[in-house]
Amino acid sequence: MLEDGKLYIGTSRKPDDTINKGEYLDFKFGNRHGLITGATGTGKTVTLQILAESFSNAGVPVFCADVKGDLSGIGAIGEPKDWVTKRAEQIGFTDFAFQEFPVIFWDLYGEKGHRVRTTMSEMGPLLLSRLMNATDAQEGVINIAFKIADEGGLPLLDLKDFQAMLNYMAENASALSGKYGLISKASVGSIQRELLILEQQGAKNFFGEPALKVSDIMRTTRDGRGAISVLAADKLMMNPRLYGTFLLWLMSELFEELPEIGDPDKPKLVFFFDEAHLLFNDAPKVLLERIEQVVRLIRSKGVGIYFVTQNPLDVPETVLAQLGNRIQHALRAYTPREQKAVKTAADTFRPNPDFDCATVITNLGTGEALVSTLEGKGAPSMVERTLIRPPSSRAGPLTEAERANVMSISPVAGQYDADIDRESAYELLAQRAAKSTQQAEESREASEAPAPAAPGGSRWTLPGFGDDDAQAPAQPKPKPRAGYQRESVAEAAMKSVARTVASSLGRALVRGILGSLRR
Ligand SMILES: Nc1ncnc2c1ncn2[C@@H]1O[C@H](COP(=O)(O)OP(=O)(O)OP(=O)(O)O)[C@@H](O)[C@H]1O
Ligand SMILES: [Mg+2]
Repeated sequence: MLEDGKLYIGTSRKPDDTINKGEYLDFKFGNRHGLITGATGTGKTVTLQILAESFSNAGVPVFCADVKGDLSGIGAIGEPKDWVTKRAEQIGFTDFAFQEFPVIFWDLYGEKGHRVRTTMSEMGPLLLSRLMNATDAQEGVINIAFKIADEGGLPLLDLKDFQAMLNYMAENASALSGKYGLISKASVGSIQRELLILEQQGAKNFFGEPALKVSDIMRTTRDGRGAISVLAADKLMMNPRLYGTFLLWLMSELFEELPEIGDPDKPKLVFFFDEAHLLFNDAPKVLLERIEQVVRLIRSKGVGIYFVTQNPLDVPETVLAQLGNRIQHALRAYTPREQKAVKTAADTFRPNPDFDCATVITNLGTGEALVSTLEGKGAPSMVERTLIRPPSSRAGPLTEAERANVMSISPVAGQYDADIDRESAYELLAQRAAKSTQQAEESREASEAPAPAAPGGSRWTLPGFGDDDAQAPAQPKPKPRAGYQRESVAEAAMKSVARTVASSLGRALVRGILGSLRR
């Protein structure tokens, strides 16, 4: 069944249930994205697993999230479970063999995998606003915070950098508002509270350095297989917004970092987006448009994105239209929404005269799916009712000991374990504040120091009263009022911000479509 240049998905059946033909995904269309849908327990995870396995064997690195823990078994050799051997026989899969795969485990919490971090600077204002579910006013403030930081060479690496930046903005709100637009203290306050919540939810593990290097999820082994990066997402799923934002960030990072290559003969990386509804659920329109744009453009960087979700209606139509390779497992059709989902799913396939898609979707067995992939010049193949092949690796989780072993021999072992806390916004702003206070202190002392006594006695001259005195000493500067003084401190800080830009960067930072940093 296995063929070069193609990924064997399974074998289709004729209406009389006899074997029809093997169904394949052509590797050269692997970057044309895909969709795996189906109700719970219909076989989505196993389908994801067999796709990941075959991409890996073809030398294509894979990134996927393990939402329930049951995907980790891809790192262990398969076992002849009943349903596995039965399925292999059923479809006449004679060259089927058990195998284990090169897995790298990742975990935002650093418990079930190597630590994954990014910096706030790299994530950018758009995604951070999404992460904090920010209102328009709050988003405005977040944008200003990034602007000040980007222009001023103040790296926002971790949560405390961002806190420091917000404090700085609150303290200098009126001075900064003049330059950047209104900074409402109420909005700053609510963002600060939101940050505390994020911190309690464990996001502080995620923001900081060393940040994940894209090259580490694009590794291949010496024998030419693609590494499968598995993100432990069971705990992460308790914070669905962090999960969704993280995957979005990673997608945008890939997009910004990878070079344009057109259509390769196989993808550079395949990215599975499980529980994809979390990405789109009540996402603001701007964000949806940007996601759509990145999905469209990332293809020519050789990245294939595969969305996995229960209901095809979870994916916006503009994104759906870009997903060329489709695997539709069974759907239920009790409620009107479910019926609509069935209809949507059925309508997106190139029809097969042998059966009615909508009827079949509700009758598919476990591990069976309607399959259509791109073929020829990139047109969708006629949909076929397909029995999905069994996995070569273990279906089900690894034990803790097995996971620990995989992690200890991983190519990134030790690289991401310890936090690095280099000088960033928190430290720089603290230094500046200290310096400004010192300067203010000095100028206040200077202004309060008694003026040298005028020769001849009187300290004051009263212009226009006849005692103007050309010899009189220069008047001391008026003592600044508190408010005024605060502003001048802010101005001093701004200037030093401006100087840092010139010296450290020579240019403002450039942000990409989803607001993450460009190199
Ligand atoms: N290709 C297959 N061939 C035979 N049986 C399969 C196949 N895929 C899945 N199954 C059976 O269905 C069970 C559930 O599969 P899977 O975990 O992939 O479902 P799922 O759709 O991911 O479920 P959930 O929504 O709960 O995550 C498997 O344990 C297996 O018994
Ligand atoms: Mg599953």
